[in-house]
Amino acid sequence: MDIWTVDALPSLGSTKPEFQLGVLGDPVEHSLSPRMQNAALAARGLPYRYERVHVSPSRLEEAFARLRELGFIGWNLTLPHKIAGLSLVDRLDPEAADLEAINTVLNHGGELIGFNTDGRGLQAALTEAFKIDLTKVRIAVLGAGGGAGHASARFLARLRPERLLLVNRTLAKMENLKNQLAGDPRITFWDFDQLERVFREADLIVNATSAGLAGGILDWEPDWLQADHRVFDMVYGREGDTPMVAWAKRKGVPAVDGRLMLLHQGAFAFEHWFGRPVPVQAMRDALR
Ligand code: ATR
Repeated sequence: MDIWTVDALPSLGSTKPEFQLGVLGDPVEHSLSPRMQNAALAARGLPYRYERVHVSPSRLEEAFARLRELGFIGWNLTLPHKIAGLSLVDRLDPEAADLEAINTVLNHGGELIGFNTDGRGLQAALTEAFKIDLTKVRIAVLGAGGGAGHASARFLARLRPERLLLVNRTLAKMENLKNQLAGDPRITFWDFDQLERVFREADLIVNATSAGLAGGILDWEPDWLQADHRVFDMVYGREGDTPMVAWAKRKGVPAVDGRLMLLHQGAFAFEHWFGRPVPVQAMRDALR
């Protein structure tokens, strides 16, 4: 499948009229969204295609203008555009405003509406993977100061889990979160030096850092992980388990990677574009 660029978009009208949806990222090569969304489009019998568009941060605004002009139905945003996209839409869904990031745009007759389906995608993935009631567990988010971690922390805080332990290597990067979530005694803030204690005090570990475990990038002791832990790694590999998931499984701990979140956030995005029914099974099969 091609990877499109902003410069290639002007010729679009005449050559690929069915290309009406896509994912904008930098890099974007790795994205599995086209595979999943094209399966959904086919399952619903919709005559559109979903493609990858490589867009650097300096050209994001231009890309939005072009896609609006070309009458695109909508698009997704992946790294590093989820925060910059906030100011490029005409209207923000309240949840996206609250999470301070968007990953889905709907072109509603020329009006661009920004949504965030990552939060609900994460919730659906955790619930499906571990069959747990998220209000009754102690959740640790590693990397809560990064882009994905910040939005996840905001979303999980709204679910009011028993405890929410927010962890970041650089404590200063959680200052915003601290101000926003101040006053809730169930929410605490930690740095990586305190990771051993975080593992002791959490049931569910959500990794939102961009670092893998490979090569000791994250400095953890193997015995911090116990059989009753659950591990969710927000990243996913194109093939096989991520290092973190592999590590957890070797210890007999249930662990799932970000593909399940990708599936659910994509299903919610599809629903914003086309309504129900959403062919979730076709999307799931496409990701296998
Ligand atoms: P940002 O939002 O900073 O632009 P990101 O990719 O959204 O970048 O987030 C990266 C996250 O992974 C951050 O939480 C980062 O921690 P810092 O805030 O301390 O930089 C985290 N991260 C990346 N590599 C890491 C490592 N080796 N150990 C721990 N955390 C790491």
